[in-house]
Order: sequence, then structure tokens, then C-alpha cells
Amino acid sequence: MSLKLRINNVLTSVDLPPDTPLLWALRDTLDLKGAKYGCGIGACGACTVLVDGVATRSCITPIGAVASSSITTIEGLSPDGTHPVQLAWEQLDVPQCGYCQSGQVLTAAALLSHTPHPTDAQIDAAMSNNLCRCGTYSRIRQAIHQAASSAAPTAAPQKK
Ligand code: FES
Ligand code: FES
Repeated sequence: MSLKLRINNVLTSVDLPPDTPLLWALRDTLDLKGAKYGCGIGACGACTVLVDGVATRSCITPIGAVASSSITTIEGLSPDGTHPVQLAWEQLDVPQCGYCQSGQVLTAAALLSHTPHPTDAQIDAAMSNNLCRCGTYSRIRQAIHQAASSAAPTAAPQKK
């Protein structure tokens, strides 16, 4: 069955059943490998993408549920990697192995789009369900503060 998805502001067709997890469609069909498979049960955050600007676990999101939404993956967060969160991540050298990081960056971008100057408690509340086996949590928190204090973060791309 053909289904249309708007991903990174491009309308694309996928020939998949509507109950296919979005993560499968992104990685296996559309070759967008930034979202990672970690747990497959919505528990780790490695597969996080933005759906209408909201951080969403793509491993437990069927494509049929997001057919009328705007989906942003790490590949589409900014055209050239200059979203304030990406710049802060780079400046503070946040990633270690990197596996969890696209999910972390997108979750942070979603946080800053509705809470431009979060407190430590707000950062912890938003980020605590995104697991990092390398333990980069303190750098993540620092980087979010840095992104918040730089130029106003660009809101997550929305449907045009
Ligand atoms: S792979 Fe989706 S939350 Fe872990
Ligand atoms: S940087 Fe390695 S799991 Fe987070």
C-alpha cells in the first residue's frame, strides 16, 4: 500500500503497510540512517524524530499515524548543521560513541522550541528518558544551556 509522508519538508511515497514503524520506513526504505534502533520499545530515545515539532519515538510510531504530519529527522533539522543545538553540541564536543546523539539533539531542539531558556530541572525532565550509555548527560545539559544563550533557536521545521 502506498502512503505519503512529509519528511524534512519533502513529500515522499512509501509502499509499506500503515502499521510499519516509522523507524523502519526511515532507515530501510528511505535510507535516512540518523535515527537509530536501540530498544525498539520506546524506552531509550535513540530513534527520536520530530513529528510536528514534538519529539517522538519512531520505533513505536506506525507510519499510518503520521501520514498527515510533518516529520523531521536529524538529516533535516537544518540545511547545513547550524541549528543552535548542533553548534553547541559541536562546540562542547558532546558525543562520545554518538549512537544516541541524533535522538538527544532532536529532543533538545524540541525542548528549546517551546522553552527557549530551560532550567536544569526542565532540561532533566525533557531529556531524562533519552538514554546515553556513554554518560554524556552533563555535557548535554551544558550544551542545551549554551544553545539557549546563543541566537534564538530555530523552531523545528513545520509543514509548509
Ligand atoms: S529504539 Fe525507539 S525508543 Fe529505543
Ligand atoms: S554517546 Fe554513546 S550512547 Fe550516547
